[in-house]
Amino acid sequence: MNIIGGPASQLLAGRVSEILEYNLPISEYRRFPDGELYTRVLDDFDVTHDITIIQSTVSDSDFISLLQLIDACSEAARINVVIPYMGYARQDKRFKRGEPISARAMARAIKADRVFTINIHSQSILDYFDAEAVNLDATPMIGEYIKNLKFKNPLIIAPDDGAIPLARSAASNLGIDYDFLEKTRISGEAVSIKPKSIEVRGRDVIIIDDIISTGGTMAETISLLRSQGAREVFAACVHPVLSNSAILKLFKAGVRGIIATDTLDKGVSVVSVAPVIASVIKNI
Ligand code: R5P
Repeated sequence: MNIIGGPASQLLAGRVSEILEYNLPISEYRRFPDGELYTRVLDDFDVTHDITIIQSTVSDSDFISLLQLIDACSEAARINVVIPYMGYARQDKRFKRGEPISARAMARAIKADRVFTINIHSQSILDYFDAEAVNLDATPMIGEYIKNLKFKNPLIIAPDDGAIPLARSAASNLGIDYDFLEKTRISGEAVSIKPKSIEVRGRDVIIIDDIISTGGTMAETISLLRSQGAREVFAACVHPVLSNSAILKLFKAGVRGIIATDTLDKGVSVVSVAPVIASVIKNI
């Protein structure tokens, strides 16, 4: 089996190939003088075996590189594509008339035998792929990491009901409490936002979400929980997109630390999803 690391996922592809001891062909990624992307798999690979391409699509050019890699590997027996972070996944609906469902447009362009995503923003996107598509869950590994930090009386909080499955999965089997923020309208003008059932006062709180992008959602949640008496507040996510001044926003809001996975290779990517990917590829 061969593993090809796209330009956005070289560290992760390296880690997966190290676990599995699979061949890791080297590729060249550069641009033509007019700005178009040039991709070439430099090392020969055995086309009678499966190829697994690992490439997050955080930018438009990452997406084009993925399409180029799939085409470059078209002679392989079977092509598996792992998209650790899939860009455009939050455009999974037509919010306004005339808009595309961008996640569907992206999924339809990816031609492969199997596709694996990690904590994709919405499971419904999997149906848009022509291939068999499976979503992997990295949150138990975040939970393990949190457990090893040996917090006193930790509490995992989902910033909204959409993130409840992440909080539940991170906390499961670890004996850590979890809850989610609930918005209750008190009057025409006032709303109260607080954890649905568990008091945060005096506890170390870890807020978990799928993505930290601008950091707006997380910063607001950090400030809120600190104002409600949480002791230390940590921000955890699967996908550290961290656009613009996201990190600064979190620290300004009073975060103690940021915990993320290496679906995107950032300074805060302390939890590797390589074992999750290696395990499914090995069992194909
Ligand atoms: C939203 O549905 C997602 O789960 C995240 O909460 C959101 O994408 C985070 O974005 P931002 O960091 O820009 O607030």
